[in-house]
Amino acid sequence: MSGVIESYIFLSTEKQHFNTELLQNLVARSSSMNKRYGITGFMYQTQPYFFGYVEGTSKNIAQLKTNLNSDTRHKVIYWLNDKEKQKRRFKSWDLVKKENYNDKDADTSSSIFLLLDVLVLSINTFIRNQVQVSGTKQREVFEKIDRLANLFELIKQNELHS
Ligand SMILES: Cc1cc2nc3c(=O)[nH]c(=O)nc-3n(C[C@H](O)[C@H](O)[C@H](O)COP(=O)(O)O)c2cc1C
Repeated sequence: MSGVIESYIFLSTEKQHFNTELLQNLVARSSSMNKRYGITGFMYQTQPYFFGYVEGTSKNIAQLKTNLNSDTRHKVIYWLNDKEKQKRRFKSWDLVKKENYNDKDADTSSSIFLLLDVLVLSINTFIRNQVQVSGTKQREVFEKIDRLANLFELIKQNELHS
């Protein structure tokens, strides 16, 4: 998986209620598609929102964006492209869910949820106030994604050594 990597975050609102079963189906399908197309990143659900970060080659990311934009189960309200970093941050693609983490990771996972909630809140504020996000603000958002990627790595390493 080499070459230039494009990355985006997106925020969307549910158009249908995702119960556990529907969410599991969505994640299973997305996960296998992403493996096939070399898409990495994460998805976070905080009702009624989905917050995602995806990275991959331009061609595969463009296709995923088209799929996500035309998926009637949700409505994408925000896309933000990282114009600077052209490298992968994540090694795999996952749903970020509280129950995925054990007690050992309590501090790390609460940092993750805090970061994600702050990101969702800030992005909502951008949208509500129709704020044009400056280059500096964009950079700050993606710096938080860098932090997240590091936190995910910490958890993965803990899992390996436990
Ligand atoms: C919140 C949300 C996140 C999704 N994330 C992904 C994803 O990461 N990768 C993916 O291939 N499809 C994802 N999908 C599904 C796509 O929108 C689309 O249904 C799928 O790519 C097309 O696959 P199909 O052949 O099953 O129709 C997501 C859908 C939703 C509602």
